[in-house]
Amino acid sequence: MQFIDLKAQYQALKTEIDENIHAVLDVGQYIGGAPVKELEEKLAAFVGRKHCISCANGTDALQIAFMVYGIGAGDAVFCSDITFISSTEPSKMFGAASVFCDIQPDTYNMSPESLEKQIQAVLAEGKLKPKAVIAVDILGNPCDYDAIIPICEKYGLILIEDAAQSFGASYKGKRCCSFGQIATTSFFPAKPLGCYGDGGAIFVDDDELAHVIRSICVHGKGPKGKYDNIRVGVNSRLDTIQAAILLPKFKALEDYEIANRQSVAKRYNEAFAADFTTPFVQDDCISIYAQYALLAKDTETRDRVVAHLTEKKIPNMIYYPTPQHALPVFENEPTYGESFTNANDYCARTLSLPMHPYMDPADQELVIKTVLEAL
Ligand SMILES: Cc1ncc(COP(=O)(O)O)c(C=O)c1O
Repeated sequence: MQFIDLKAQYQALKTEIDENIHAVLDVGQYIGGAPVKELEEKLAAFVGRKHCISCANGTDALQIAFMVYGIGAGDAVFCSDITFISSTEPSKMFGAASVFCDIQPDTYNMSPESLEKQIQAVLAEGKLKPKAVIAVDILGNPCDYDAIIPICEKYGLILIEDAAQSFGASYKGKRCCSFGQIATTSFFPAKPLGCYGDGGAIFVDDDELAHVIRSICVHGKGPKGKYDNIRVGVNSRLDTIQAAILLPKFKALEDYEIANRQSVAKRYNEAFAADFTTPFVQDDCISIYAQYALLAKDTETRDRVVAHLTEKKIPNMIYYPTPQHALPVFENEPTYGESFTNANDYCARTLSLPMHPYMDPADQELVIKTVLEAL
């Protein structure tokens, strides 16, 4: 059994994917070109943004967002304590301070209360300038944007949606990647929309911003082309072959994978509701379940389930074992007295099970049986 069965998806979409790869090879254009343009247009329309600018990976996408807004030394950037390092790395890289916020105990996303408390602590101290919020839709479950957006507006903060895990999810009728001034996603193979290597994208509505991002992605190119460098940029592009692979995968996501992921999650939820905390999705929201995470009643139970699954050769993961504030790289970051109670508790009890849209019901039954056996 696979944790995320990419081969099953390839078998389902083999004809279209193979044809698209061969079409790129026949044309012989490997950077840019029609597939990249088509993908960007389709993804922008799907999420409801004016512009999609593809790039080399989701980490670059976030770093480029920092470059566009000139976030750096003296700035405070607020981020959830539960995320992958890519969300918080750019702050460190560009000399800004990462100010971590505790999570909501039910969705595991950034707590709006903790966010506002941390902003006020930064203002009260008077050393750093509150500048931006990175809202990570963790495990594919959207953040509480009705609460976060007014806080960003109240304090004049840039909202960056890190939708690396949530492409295909939605919050009250709006797709993930449509929140904030700028949103980013990842096409890493295991993501809900993944390519066969690295890839990413940036979404904005503002024409000028889109123009600057396209320039940054190609070494800061100017109006006269790539040897007319007018700003500091990077080399970050989505390969044509990856765009060609993503096109049929995107269609499958829209046509049936979002729905299939809901069915798999529902079966797990029903099986585990009595013994575990199952994922909570807010009303009118759709999680894409990039990961299906349970909370065991305590660490000892979690570790027992993990050991039993591993012994029975059932893939399992812990997303994430360590909250950001406790990572060695952030040991000198200011915490403003936040105790991160919910984030610490989450890390102590979480475990993730195999989850993908092609999951065989018999395999899922085996996962359920093995988890329950461990209790
Ligand atoms: C929350 C989050 N942000 C950003 C990224 C970065 O994406 P990539 O691996 O494409 O650089 C990831 C990837 O795992 C992620 O989980």
